[in-house]
Amino acid sequence: MGKEKTYALINYGCQMNESDTEHYAGQLVEMGYKRAEDFHDADVIIVNTCCVRESAEKKIQGKIGELKAVKAKNPDVVICVAGCMAQKDGEKLLKKHPQVDILLGTSYVNGFKELLTGFLANRKKGLYTSLEINDAEFEGHRVRQSPFHAWIPIMYGCNNFCTYCIVPYVRGRERSRSVENIVEEIKQAVKEGYKEFTLLGQNVDSYGKQTGDKEAFAKLLRTCNEVEGVERIHYMTSHPRDMVEAVIEAVRDCEHVCESFHLPFQAGSNEILRRMNRGYTKEKYLDLIATVRKHVPNAVITTDIIVGFPGETEEDFEQTLDVVRRVGFDSAYTFIYSKRSGTPAARMENQVPLEVKKERLNRLMALQNEISLANHQKLVGETFEVLADGPSKHEGVWSGRTRTGILVLWPTEGKAYTLGQAVNVKIDTAQTWLLKGKAID
Ligand code: SAH
Ligand code: SF4
Ligand code: F3S
Repeated sequence: MGKEKTYALINYGCQMNESDTEHYAGQLVEMGYKRAEDFHDADVIIVNTCCVRESAEKKIQGKIGELKAVKAKNPDVVICVAGCMAQKDGEKLLKKHPQVDILLGTSYVNGFKELLTGFLANRKKGLYTSLEINDAEFEGHRVRQSPFHAWIPIMYGCNNFCTYCIVPYVRGRERSRSVENIVEEIKQAVKEGYKEFTLLGQNVDSYGKQTGDKEAFAKLLRTCNEVEGVERIHYMTSHPRDMVEAVIEAVRDCEHVCESFHLPFQAGSNEILRRMNRGYTKEKYLDLIATVRKHVPNAVITTDIIVGFPGETEEDFEQTLDVVRRVGFDSAYTFIYSKRSGTPAARMENQVPLEVKKERLNRLMALQNEISLANHQKLVGETFEVLADGPSKHEGVWSGRTRTGILVLWPTEGKAYTLGQAVNVKIDTAQTWLLKGKAID
């Protein structure tokens, strides 16, 4: 008897990539593979890549480079590079890294099993980067990372073409899964013990747009809320231009849909927003936030911000700081603009020098950190239900998240907890990134 075949998955990028990786794992398990302890020993290695910023690409290029030695030691290992960078660079990547056997674009996740079977039969290098495959329905199963939280993609691709962003070029046009197909996956996951779900898409507010129903996403939230056994529903990412009041009302009305809103605003200056092709103004964005607060007063609101978009002046940047102050976000993902070749912004004049971008990022982060801490301090004394997600870095301390996604730490005091267990924690300490407290059950 030969030894058991094993696989290793190395994942980069956003939640959509994590979800795709869970589907690769599902297919490998169906083919009889087991997870390898260490990728150096695996028979099949998949690197799932991201190219949203240059910094991500550099890291990944390094990792793919490392696999050269793995291939030299074991020529039989199958090395696949999948995801957004594979989609973008195609043949160039194969030339640069001859150790790669299969290059899988973003549309081939479903077909991976067949492609791998084909490769094992003929050992011919494969390059699969067409974006013509538009099937959105899901079959098969995923091997999920978490035993209680499940990623559920509801739509793929993006039609927005924000001028800085590579995603529409590497993920193709928008396509939505049917409500039935989504609900079926959620029900199946509930049977397997899952209780927390995140509905995923590059722009979830565009869900079902092809049907002409602007409220399709709001209806989907209400439908998922009714699935028996579902405890928490999150979703990401929303687009401020496309989020309709019906979505906010669904969050208000649905017991299981959590009261957090991730609403990337990217920049505060109307001129920059126009050149980013975001389709809203600062005023419209602030109106939307007001509508969220009106319906869901205890909402946690988070955002994404880019500093140093081409042509951004100090005055433009001040507008970004102004939005941050006015909204008082609970947290923000802040990025230095990264030039992505092929996108319109990469060709714009007046690229902002790196030094200026870094200086703005520091000011922005300092302001946001102050606000995050102040918001968290208001929560001291309150009790939250958190779902336990495992031991923290500190001995004898576990971590979990509130419904709204805030990280909470508490000492176990000798008690045993299980992953996904609901624990009531009374908060006694606030920090910028997290809360600390004591379990009170
Ligand atoms: N579809 C999602 C996720 C896009 S990528 C959305 O629209 O929000 C996540 C974040 O990366 C974006 O919100 C944006 O803030 C940032 N981003 C995208 N392209 C970038 C670039 N070229 N440089 C810097 N940040 C970028
Ligand atoms: Fe990129 Fe804009 Fe699409 Fe988000 S909405 S993925 S930022 S093009
Ligand atoms: Fe990266 Fe692709 Fe996601 S570029 S952010 S992995 S959609």
